[in-house]
Amino acid sequence: MNVLHVCANPKPTDESVSKQLAAAFFGKLIELRSDVELVNTDLYDEKPPFYSYELYKRTWYPVMDESYEPSKAEEMAMNYAARQTEAFNAADVLVLTMPMWNCTVPAIMKAWMDQVLSPGLTFSISAEEGVKPLHKIKSIVLLVASGGVYKEGDERDALSTQVRSAFGFAGIDDIEIVWADGQNPLFNMDADERKQMALEAAAEIAEDIAELELDAAE
Ligand SMILES: Cc1cc2nc3c(=O)[nH]c(=O)nc-3n(C[C@H](O)[C@H](O)[C@H](O)COP(=O)(O)O)c2cc1C
Repeated sequence: MNVLHVCANPKPTDESVSKQLAAAFFGKLIELRSDVELVNTDLYDEKPPFYSYELYKRTWYPVMDESYEPSKAEEMAMNYAARQTEAFNAADVLVLTMPMWNCTVPAIMKAWMDQVLSPGLTFSISAEEGVKPLHKIKSIVLLVASGGVYKEGDERDALSTQVRSAFGFAGIDDIEIVWADGQNPLFNMDADERKQMALEAAAEIAEDIAELELDAAE
């Protein structure tokens, strides 16, 4: 089972609840499956560039115009996305670890999504066939921590909506969420209890992922 773990959190694990969820998740998954091939992408080590006009041309022009020939600058603008796409398209499972910042994903995660969720890289797009995945990801596990308490469907939560919509567009609809909310101890006396519940949920989701049936060729 190929697992791509993309982490957007600059803190060390002992200070980061979302990274602790990742430790619980991977601890259980690796215990249950000996065939896990894990690729770890720490976005603070592999910082994505912001989306550029050159990248836009290199990825979207071929969709509209078969005669398009990229310039050298346009070709180079795709270097980061092309590197990241290799691990993305080889993965069976994608794990995203992040804090909630200003109601949504950290900007560095959004920048990574803008790079890899591009036509010709992780999906193809045409008027005849619509959007078709070029990847084989079956499931996304979203591991998130937030200071505030969130109920499902909370209008202040732009994070899960963004992850669901953006990856749904690229053909991934199975998204499991483990959310350690209420992690601001100034306002939530039960922050520790909430964290413990989320750590247990992370291990439970790992059990489900361990059962995932992969394509026969694998
Ligand atoms: C820049 C910044 C923005 C934040 N925005 C929110 C927010 O919009 N909603 C919320 O509930 N918590 C917010 N928080 C609190 C974090 O989500 C919380 O501390 C969480 O535990 C961080 O995850 P971590 O422990 O994995 O780093 C914010 C924290 C920072 C530093």
